[in-house]
Amino acid sequence: MNPALKTSPSKSRDRIQAWQDHFETRLAAALPAGGNTPESLLRAMRYSLLSGGKRMRPMLVYAACDALAMDFRQLDAVACAIEIIHTYSLIHDDLRRGRPTCHRAFDVATAILAGDALQALAFEVLASDPELHRRPEQQLRIIQGIAAACGPAGMAGGQMLDLGAVGRTMSYEQLAQMHAQKTGALIRIAALTPALFARVSADLYAKLETFGDYVGLAFQIHDDILDVTGTAEQTGKSTQKDAQQDKPTFPGLLGLERSREEAYRLRDLALAELEGFPGDCAALAYLAAVAVDRES
Ligand code: IPE
Ligand code: MG
Repeated sequence: MNPALKTSPSKSRDRIQAWQDHFETRLAAALPAGGNTPESLLRAMRYSLLSGGKRMRPMLVYAACDALAMDFRQLDAVACAIEIIHTYSLIHDDLRRGRPTCHRAFDVATAILAGDALQALAFEVLASDPELHRRPEQQLRIIQGIAAACGPAGMAGGQMLDLGAVGRTMSYEQLAQMHAQKTGALIRIAALTPALFARVSADLYAKLETFGDYVGLAFQIHDDILDVTGTAEQTGKSTQKDAQQDKPTFPGLLGLERSREEAYRLRDLALAELEGFPGDCAALAYLAAVAVDRES
């Protein structure tokens, strides 16, 4: 076993399961409690947020805390905010999570507002968290980093590239760039936030950044593969959409087999970054493996 991994994979799985249970409680508590929030809006937000996604991004936040030997609870607000942003992006991207999408369960206007409200809520959670406020400078860096990751040069920009890519052919570099923005940016910042909060060496910071980049790209390549090979039942969303919409994808460019190899190659490059950390990198390694082996 890699000496950086002080825990076995099955122990990592249990550890991540415990984090997930903890996280669900925190996430539910992040939703507004009545007040001036219209009940119909709150229902749509709750419907999309508490619908059992994999919680990959918040688990990356906690796992990176483990690697840096930090208490993961310090980053609860960050884990929640990133998942809230991810959820808003799923609503606006009209994805399904194994149940009717928000705009079908409610209506289009409500779904758009639920997404708008979730994005604002994420930043309110970050700005008002007492744990983060103990280090205001780091708190600001985190807010700035997450805003950049979901903004015009990150997720939103990546979605624009994705829209513009319909019917076009893309090179490996162009595809990788699009994926890095639309999916990679949020995954990368998730892994990086603990290093933004703590004082870490430039070396460890760079390792987490590179780890996040590789995992983000590998995750999206695997997502492209699942769109070809998966069933709606298994993935919880309709598949074959990329081909129907004539989107450039990794399976389209490289074929399925080479796309799989590429995802595994990137995972291995990510794993190679997990050396020299003060804490335990096992959960990060486990999540990197899940990114390219998941069935949904
Ligand atoms: C799906 O993300 C959309 C992409 C960015 C590829 P996830 O596969 O993480 O979705 P959930 O959160 O588990 O539903
Ligand atoms: Mg896709």
